[in-house]
Amino acid sequence: ELKDQSGIWRFRDLLPILKDEANIVTLREGNTPLYELPRAARSIGVERVYAKHQGMNPTGSFKDAGMTTALSVAHERGFSWVACASTGNTSAAMAAYAARAGMRSLVLIPEGKIAWGKLSQSLDYGALTCQLRTDFDGCVRVLAEVVRRAPVFLLNSVNPYRVEGQKTPAFEIAESLDWQLPDHLIVPGGNLANCSALGKGFLEMKLLGLTDRVPRISVIQAEGANPLYRSMQENGGKELTPVEADTRASAIRIGNPASWRKAVRILEATGGWVEQVNEAEIALAKAEIGAEGIGCEPASAVTLAGLKKLVAQGHVQPSESVVLLLTGHTLKDSDYTIRYHRGDLLTEEEIAPLRPEIESTRRNT
Ligand code: F0G
Repeated sequence: ELKDQSGIWRFRDLLPILKDEANIVTLREGNTPLYELPRAARSIGVERVYAKHQGMNPTGSFKDAGMTTALSVAHERGFSWVACASTGNTSAAMAAYAARAGMRSLVLIPEGKIAWGKLSQSLDYGALTCQLRTDFDGCVRVLAEVVRRAPVFLLNSVNPYRVEGQKTPAFEIAESLDWQLPDHLIVPGGNLANCSALGKGFLEMKLLGLTDRVPRISVIQAEGANPLYRSMQENGGKELTPVEADTRASAIRIGNPASWRKAVRILEATGGWVEQVNEAEIALAKAEIGAEGIGCEPASAVTLAGLKKLVAQGHVQPSESVVLLLTGHTLKDSDYTIRYHRGDLLTEEEIAPLRPEIESTRRNT
C-alpha cells in the first residue's frame, strides 16, 4: 500500500493524530535525499555540508510532509473544504492532497507575487484559486474572515497537524547520518514553521532518549523580509513588529510570520542564530547549489548564503557538520534562474560587491 511507502507515516507512532489509518491521504511523500555538497564545503571551509532536499517531495516542496498529516485529519473529520493563504507552495501541496482525498480546496494568493510553476500546480490539481490584490500577509487576513464564516478546514502553518508531519525530516536526517546528529541545521525563515517543526522533531528525539544532543537550529531571512532578524536584534525576540516584505525569493516574502514565538523558543532551546542575506547573496548561493547538480528554489538558497555568514562570524566551526534544509525544487521558479543567467535578475548596484563570484557562476544564454 502507498501509505506504507510514505516517509512520513512510517513515523506514525510519533504522530498521534489519527483515529483510523484508513483515513491517511498520501502521495508517497518523505524519504527525501540527504546530499553532500562537497564544493560548497571546500569553498566555505567547513568539513561536511549536507543538503536535506525537501524539494524532492511529490509536489516539489517541504509542504507535502505537513499536508499528508493535516489533510488526513481533515478527511477523518469529514470536512469537504480546505483552504490556505500561500506564497505558492502550500497551495500547490494542499490542492494536490485535497484532490487525492476527494475534497475541494480554496487557495488565496497574492496577485503577481508567486512563481508561475506554483500557480500552475494549484490550477492543475483543481483548487478554486483566487489571486488577491494584496500581499501574503493580506491574504492571511482575508482567509481568517473566510474560516470564521464557513465550515472550511484551515491549512495554514498554524495548523498543528501540519507541524506533526513537518517534524519528521528531523528523524530522517538522524537516520541518514547513522544517528550522528549534525552540529548545525540551517533553515530558511518565512512563516517560521520549519524552524518550529524541526525543532520539535529534534527535541522529541532527545526526550525519547534517541539522542543526547540536538543540532543548533539557525534561521536565515531575506534582508527585505526580515522581521525575526530585526526582532532578535532589537529586543531579543520578545516582540515582533511586522515589516513590509519585499524579496525576489517570493516564497519567503512574508512580513508578519505566524510562528515567530515558537521559532524564538527553538532558537533559545538549541542555541542557534538568526541571520539575513541580501538579494545578490541569495542568487549566488542558488547558482552554487545548482552547479553541484542539486538545485533549489531561491528561498531555499538563503541557507547556503547564511552559512557563509555564520562561518565568517565564528558561529560555525570548520570541524563541524552542517545540514542545509532545501525547501523547494529548482523547477518551482525557473524564471528566476533564467533571469540570473541571462543577467537581468539583479541590478548593477546589487551585483557590485560580489561581481567576480557572480560572473563565474553565470552561464551565458
Ligand atoms: N521555502 C519555501 C520554498 C517556502 O515555500 C516557504 C514558505 C519557506 C521556505 C518558508 O518556510 O514558513 O517554514 O519559514 N512558504 C509558504 C507558502 C508561506 O505559502 O508556500 P517557513
